[in-house]
Amino acid sequence: MSESVQQTSVLFVCLGNICRSPTAEGVFRHLVRQCGQEHAYRIDSCGTGAYHVGEPPDRRARQEAQRRGLSLDRLRARGLEQRDFECFDYLVAMDDANYRDLKNAAPQGFHGHIVKLLDFAAEYRGASVPDPYYGGDDGFSKVFAMVEQGCQGLIEHIEATRR
Ligand code: 4NP
Repeated sequence: MSESVQQTSVLFVCLGNICRSPTAEGVFRHLVRQCGQEHAYRIDSCGTGAYHVGEPPDRRARQEAQRRGLSLDRLRARGLEQRDFECFDYLVAMDDANYRDLKNAAPQGFHGHIVKLLDFAAEYRGASVPDPYYGGDDGFSKVFAMVEQGCQGLIEHIEATRR
């Protein structure tokens, strides 16, 4: 068999875990698979709020993903857990509030990385992925495009640090 690879674990985090972070999870999985690196990653998503635990992603997020050739149908929402700080190398926030919540919840001595997804997208650096939940369907298309750029940049960053 091939030599063992150090896995990098990545947790995408938003508020409800039904719109942005499951989209990011699905997109990241897809991109990693496309470059033949699925063995090198452990990927998950969660929400800082517990409003939708156990639910599949929002119908509009699933439809947008389907339009672009991937499925989010099997994902189910879960809340952030304290042990996530032990289990993941990268905790990836969608917006400033998620980022702040993660920073505040991180235990002392946490050695992983808390980052914002769009800091890895040249076009959107410093920006947040807007919450599309209360808007129309076009919000989901915008979110998907932003998330795609962020995920691509994050993969490039991780692969560069692996070398
Ligand atoms: P998400 O969007 O954080 O991208 O999953 C939201 C979904 C639900 C709610 C807020 C944001 N909510 O308040 O129910």
